[in-house]
Amino acid sequence: MDARMEAKHAAARAALAHVSRDMLLGIGSGSTVRAFIEELGSTKMGVRCITASRESADACRKNGIPVEELGAAMLDLVIDGADAIDHSGQVLKGLGGALVREKILAQSAKRWILIVDETKLVDPLGGTVPVEVIPYGMARTKERIEKCAHAVSTLREEGGRPFVTDNGNCILDVRLPRIDDPEGLDNTLAVIPGVVGTGVFINLHPHVIVSTATGETRQWDCP
Ligand code: A5P
Repeated sequence: MDARMEAKHAAARAALAHVSRDMLLGIGSGSTVRAFIEELGSTKMGVRCITASRESADACRKNGIPVEELGAAMLDLVIDGADAIDHSGQVLKGLGGALVREKILAQSAKRWILIVDETKLVDPLGGTVPVEVIPYGMARTKERIEKCAHAVSTLREEGGRPFVTDNGNCILDVRLPRIDDPEGLDNTLAVIPGVVGTGVFINLHPHVIVSTATGETRQWDCP
């Protein structure tokens, strides 16, 4: 295992301390979450899980963790990764393409824990903002997103074809190296017809667990 993967496992192990057997646990998506699923599986804790992606659901089953469907009940805890987190706990997510389901889980969580390596800590917030859009009228939606965000976007591809989310939609990756008003950006983009959701996760007050390349972890609550 390389140093970055070791760091992801270190953050994942630290997150295990927040999990108990009686919880309804939400699990996000991505390689750090995958490390968490492997660590959770090795505990044989038998916790009930709901996942944000088919990929995470497959990984859970492979590691002996049963997966349930999301119902109306709030989740006790959601563990997820992130692509960028600023000092105030505003977050960019979705490079794995599961942003809409991840946001549904985050907004259904009594507690939202993000596990990241230290490369994900940024200030100011910025980078790639994925936006999930329905295929119908995508060129028009792209035009409106770019006009509202004052930025260019790229249709995400996989194997030479448009990437398709678990919801059957496309992803437009909007390049925004500096985001001074994440809430305004999310509000502006979210109301464009054709947009299903954005990778800007605001005001969700995560508990952040960060691991360093040497495997040490730090954690704090974002008020
Ligand atoms: C998945 O859609 C994303 O939101 C992931 O949570 C994010 O990309 C972090 O992934 P890694 O843990 O692989 O960096």
